[in-house]
Parts: sequence; C-alpha cells; structure tokens
Amino acid sequence: MEHAVFRRFWYPVMPMSKLKQGPQRFELLGQALALFLDDGGVPAALEDRCCHRTARLSLGEVCDNAIACPYHGWRYNREGQCVLVPQMPDRDPGPKRRVKAFSCREKYGYAWVALEQPLFDIPDFPEAADDSFVLIQEFYEEWRVSGLRVMENELDMAHPSYVHLGTFGSPEHLVAEDAKIEEFPGGFHYTGRLGVKQAHHAQDRNNERFLDCSWYAPFICRLRINYADGPAHVIINCQVPLANNRSQVVQFCFQEDDGNGIDEAAILAFDRKVTLEDKHVLESTDADVPLDPRDERHMVSDKPGLVMRRMIQALIENHETQAVTVQ
Ligand code: FES
Repeated sequence: MEHAVFRRFWYPVMPMSKLKQGPQRFELLGQALALFLDDGGVPAALEDRCCHRTARLSLGEVCDNAIACPYHGWRYNREGQCVLVPQMPDRDPGPKRRVKAFSCREKYGYAWVALEQPLFDIPDFPEAADDSFVLIQEFYEEWRVSGLRVMENELDMAHPSYVHLGTFGSPEHLVAEDAKIEEFPGGFHYTGRLGVKQAHHAQDRNNERFLDCSWYAPFICRLRINYADGPAHVIINCQVPLANNRSQVVQFCFQEDDGNGIDEAAILAFDRKVTLEDKHVLESTDADVPLDPRDERHMVSDKPGLVMRRMIQALIENHETQAVTVQ
C-alpha cells in the first residue's frame, strides 16, 4: 500500500521514558526524525538531518532549549530554526538555516508525531480520565507486518479459537455473538460477545467476554474486555508504520482496579503470551493488504476488517495528493 494520507495521522513514536535519556531517532513512514525534549519537557520532532553537512541531529545533545548537531554544534529549536552557529556566535543564523519540523505532543506516556496536518485528533480513551483505571505500558517493538493486518486481527473474533488455544481461545466458540459496528468519522465502534476458555483474571468466573471496542484510522485499536464479574481490561494497540513493510508495535492498557488490587506482572505476562501467539501468524501474512474486496476471499466475521479497508480507501480517495511508500 502506498498512501500519502497516512502522513496525516498522529502516531505514538517514542516512549517518553526513552526520550528522557536524550535525543532519539525514529523512522516514520520513511521520514527520519530526531526526537528530543525541550527545556519544558515537551517533545519535539525535527527531520534527522542537519542542513549544514547532513549529520544526524539525533546523535546530538539538548542545550539551551535546542538540539545541538554532533558535527559542528549548530543548534536548532523545536520549530527547526537554527538559533546558533557556535563558530559565528555574533551572527543571526537567518531563515535559510533550518530543518523541517513536525507536529509533536505527549499523550499516554508517548511522544506522538503527525508528519502533516492531522485529519483527526489523538483518540481520547475514556479510561484515561477514570481514576479506577491504571495505565500500564506493555510493548514497544518492531514487527515485520502490515499495520492493517494487525488492526484486522484485533477485531477478528474468528481467530482466537485457532490462534489463542494456548491462552484464552475456546474451540467451541468460533465467532462472536451479537457483533455490531457503528461508524463515526475516521473509525467505528464494535461491540459483541465472545465465549472464551478462561477469563483474564483468576477472580473472573464467567467465560464470556463482552467486547466494547473502537478502531481509529488507520492503525489504532481500543479493545475493552469486560466479564460479567471481573474488572475491565482495556488494550490499546497502535501500529506505527515505519518503512519497507515494518511496523512499530505500541501497546499499553488500562486496567480497572475493582478493589482486589492489580497484579501488573501477571497482566503483562498474559498479554505477552497472547501477543506472541498473534505475532507468529501475522508475520506470515502478506505485507500488502488489498483494499479491493475482490482481491482476497472473506467470511461473515471478517466484516470489521472489510469496513476498515473501505474507510481507508475512502480516506485515500478524499485526501491523497501524492504517493509515498508505506506498508
Ligand atoms: Fe551539523 Fe555541521 S553537520 S553542524
């Protein structure tokens, strides 16, 4: 898939905890970024290429609210303007000494970047403002997979009975019951019920998951899992498109504290097992995802993925002005 419209969305590119260690490099949709924190602790994103002799700014250091190039020390502020050439300290560097700057914000413990004017804001997850939920950072790693394949997998309730038999999948429950989709601009809500082998927590006794999910184009999924008698577990899975058919997997969750305490290590261990079961199969799929429904075969439970493909196709038709290579 080659779609410039993907440049017009926010992506969580770097954990704030990593940025606090110093400037970092990240490749978003083939665009190399130098990420750093300004003196106020606010993340900034510049093109990772000095306009003097092209050295990587991400190898530099932050000095006086600017990032200093490691080669000759030119300093750039968060707008990409060179504010100091140390070898000519009395001269204004002028407007031509600058690099590209990109929109960058902090949310949910990540620095988020949009390469061009974003079409939608970063999603607001209601659990983030709910004191009964705790934010747990889970995974930040690269997979050889299309982000759209992972999004489809999140809302594909026919795969747990095959892929997740080692964790929660039940061979007796092949599809979700009462599955419903309600579209909104840039995404949709998905609700349904899925029978599972075991509940997420030991204290959960009911073997049915109530799903209250949302997909946000192009690559963010919120999966809220409730049992009849247990705390809610809300997984946020984001796929950050890199280049050459690779994705940065960013996953965090909101765990409800129902008064029994939260065993963070147990939650992480369980979600890790589930995620590795998905990875094994997903990395075997084709990197390209055809948006034309005639190009793959389908079944009724594929509807969420087919709606994603249709909505992405509409975004491309409505907003695309130039092609870039992404997965
Ligand atoms: Fe960056 Fe010279 S290459 S200051």
